[in-house]
Amino acid sequence: MSALSGRLVVASHNAGKVREIAALLAPYGVEPVSAAALGLPSPEETETTFAGNAVLKAAAAAEASGLPALADDSGLEVLALGGAPGVTSARWAPDGDFRVAMERVWRELAGGSDLRARFVCALALKRPGEKPLVFEGEAKGTLVWPPRGAQGFGYDPMFVPDGLDRTFGEMAPEEKTPLTHRARAFEKLVASL
Ligand code: IMP
Repeated sequence: MSALSGRLVVASHNAGKVREIAALLAPYGVEPVSAAALGLPSPEETETTFAGNAVLKAAAAAEASGLPALADDSGLEVLALGGAPGVTSARWAPDGDFRVAMERVWRELAGGSDLRARFVCALALKRPGEKPLVFEGEAKGTLVWPPRGAQGFGYDPMFVPDGLDRTFGEMAPEEKTPLTHRARAFEKLVASL
């Protein structure tokens, strides 16, 4: 990713996302700096799409830091819930408590048998003075109850990716990260540069 050598702001305050993005960037000689480490504020996510919110976060971080910025907006879409929680995935967790968010997903499924879900990620890259680039990826899977595993973050303990039988929460980071919506969006970003 020569077009991106040097410092790059990872425009997120979510430690789980920052960790995964840093692992994806590692082979490219980029020096990731988190928005939190630079003391950048988190802009309010006012858009209604993953792409819109990713651009908003990347643009705010690039503007405030003068550096290229990469932002992730992502979430869980549950088919039987019409795509909820979707862009509001983080907001379903009061005070960041994802046990509550997962319980809500399970409660709203109300015993239904369609447990299909997907994680979606939009990555936006904004370089100062340039238009933002946006790339999307998905990871399809099935929800399980009760949640399993203490690794990962967010909804990981209730999500089993297609083709496997363990939840993301039961996987070590080296196993989970390449299977994710984030990795798929990142592959597209790398291919475009
Ligand atoms: P936002 O992009 O900051 O609006 O937050 C997205 C939310 O979606 C996160 O707080 C997580 O709850 C959830 N999410 C996104 N990616 C993942 C993932 O890889 N595993 C589990 N939860 C995720």
